[in-house]
Amino acid sequence: MNEDLNGIEALAYELRKFPPSLEFVANALVSDESLYDEAAANHEKFWERQARELVDWNEPWTKVCEWDLPYSEWFVGGKLNVSFNCLDRHVLAGKGNKVAFFWEGEPGDTRVVTYSELLDEVQKFANVLKSLGVEKGDRVNIYLPMIPEAAVAMLACARIGAAHSVVFGGFSSQALADRINDAEAKVLITADGGWRRGEVFPLKSQADDAVKLTSTIEHVVVVKRGGNDVEMQEGRDHWYHEIMETASAVCPAEPMDSEQLLFLLYTSGTTGKPKGIMHTTGGYLTHVAYTFKYVFDHKPETDIFWCTADVGWVTGHSYIVYGPLANGATQVMYEGVPNFPGTDRMWSIIEKYRATIFYTAPTAIRTYMKWGTQEPAKHDLSSLRLMGSVGEPINPEAWMWYHEHIGGGKCPIVDTWWQTETGGIMIAPLPGVTVTKPGSATRPLPGVGAELVDELGRSVTKGGGYLTLTKPWPGMLRGIWGDQNRYRETYWSRFSDRYFAGDGAKLDDEGYLWLLGRVDDVMNVSGHRISTTEVESALVSHPSVAEAAVVGASDATTGQAIIAYVTLRGGLEVDEKVLRDHVAQEIGAIAKPKTIYFTPDLPKTRSGKIMRRLLRDVAEGRNLGDTTTLADASVVNELQRRAVETPTED
Ligand code: PRX
Repeated sequence: MNEDLNGIEALAYELRKFPPSLEFVANALVSDESLYDEAAANHEKFWERQARELVDWNEPWTKVCEWDLPYSEWFVGGKLNVSFNCLDRHVLAGKGNKVAFFWEGEPGDTRVVTYSELLDEVQKFANVLKSLGVEKGDRVNIYLPMIPEAAVAMLACARIGAAHSVVFGGFSSQALADRINDAEAKVLITADGGWRRGEVFPLKSQADDAVKLTSTIEHVVVVKRGGNDVEMQEGRDHWYHEIMETASAVCPAEPMDSEQLLFLLYTSGTTGKPKGIMHTTGGYLTHVAYTFKYVFDHKPETDIFWCTADVGWVTGHSYIVYGPLANGATQVMYEGVPNFPGTDRMWSIIEKYRATIFYTAPTAIRTYMKWGTQEPAKHDLSSLRLMGSVGEPINPEAWMWYHEHIGGGKCPIVDTWWQTETGGIMIAPLPGVTVTKPGSATRPLPGVGAELVDELGRSVTKGGGYLTLTKPWPGMLRGIWGDQNRYRETYWSRFSDRYFAGDGAKLDDEGYLWLLGRVDDVMNVSGHRISTTEVESALVSHPSVAEAAVVGASDATTGQAIIAYVTLRGGLEVDEKVLRDHVAQEIGAIAKPKTIYFTPDLPKTRSGKIMRRLLRDVAEGRNLGDTTTLADASVVNELQRRAVETPTED
């Protein structure tokens, strides 16, 4: 068994159980096993009903699912427009004045955007994109802060059949350039800057640096948000507010093929090169609309939903933009950090907008725990009725704290397991049905086939194993942009006939799933996926570094922390800070190692393979087991001695 799965038996067995309250059950959209039974009876028919009920189609499909492993097509032959589904149909139904976004800027400025305003803005911006030469099938890069224009830009792309590729604003110019180049994007949409922790961070200057490293960008559209100085290049750069002034107001939603590429979203794998995950139109929209409705038990008339993710990640795509808007939801969108101006900002926002559903990440919850219970206690959080968690395993302590101090002991918690690749939620409770256990994502949703297997692909019904997905699902990735071999290799080769997600999990006596984290060389830092190889490549690209090994070590707040072991080129010296900044420049601040150990040598097997397991043991302060396979055991003894002595940098 893989080393990462061995720890399973050692995990404390969590015995607490939380059934939904009678009141919650009485009002829930689903309160019995009917959806599970329906999906188990006929997988395709189940999804077909969701597609019919939750999505408007211009033309019906001729086949629900075409499955030729590892490729699937859903609602084959069907035609629809995602932007029409997220906007026009609500306005046509008389809901134009309904609020789509209560937006709150970090400095405290606010905007209220209704569905008709959003539709107007999207139509205009779709015309802007067309006027800049964007055509169906082209790629558009988006590099924006958390402002409503991010949703506008995405929906405008969807309206005209261009695929967007959103890059998180915290990524460096180099990372942005790599993604633009891989996607061969024509247009880049960015902002002058955004607000973060009381200051404006520049985006346009980063975008300029990125565009210098690319050859495909013809136009850059710049939203004014930070008010900071920027350089505008005549002919190439356009202010959003100026170009929108003259844009025509009407841009009919063009029906798209169900398999039209909707977006690319880059995510880390086990190699240094990020993967452009491909998602298409009809299946993806059906999946996110379905999961949003049922996992969050969404009532469009009364709920105010707040997902704290950034639109640069898949959670922002699926549960700020497409899932909620397809369901006509009213949402809160917040621009900044949770501790500005005070550490109670999130709770003050919940109180202010009377949010009813709150969806955040375990790393954030652990941070709120550190700030203390007095912070949420300052605010009236009684509007909340349901809470969610996503991005990494939630430890039982954080679950209980969330339950008691944010949810007032009355809100069900939906721990939602999924990935960029899955498009939408796969494993999670249905809040009116499932008895939850703190730390368990419970069981696969109706319509999802998941199974734990051992090394040899044999089914595991109790204890630890590898999490695999056994059936195609509508929101599944359609491949990796420009590299279909890697698609097959990465997800479909480890076990035959099934998708391997890269995660380990265990099944308890009652069949509940407990996610245990990645079993490959991918780290999960504050819910962000970063590959060890990517950080190693960044370190080695510094002229003074000869060799680097990176591991993810357990961290009480961020889940995992990046620890690097670096060997310098003969005679050279470099400061730890210089290397950390170098990584930030290559990838982004999120990939900065927390600690760098300089070592004359890395622990290697006699065949020259770096022994990462040992390095992880050192980083996590564990006793080292067998070191006899090491070429030179003294290297690791020295590192261990220093790990005990070195304070880590925050
Ligand atoms: O390891 C799992 C972890 O996050 C990975 C997916 O990362 P990403 O594609 O960036 O998407 C994050 C948001 C969906 C998974 O392979 N993960 C995500 N949600 C959970 C989780 N691990 C445990 N429990 C979860 N609820």
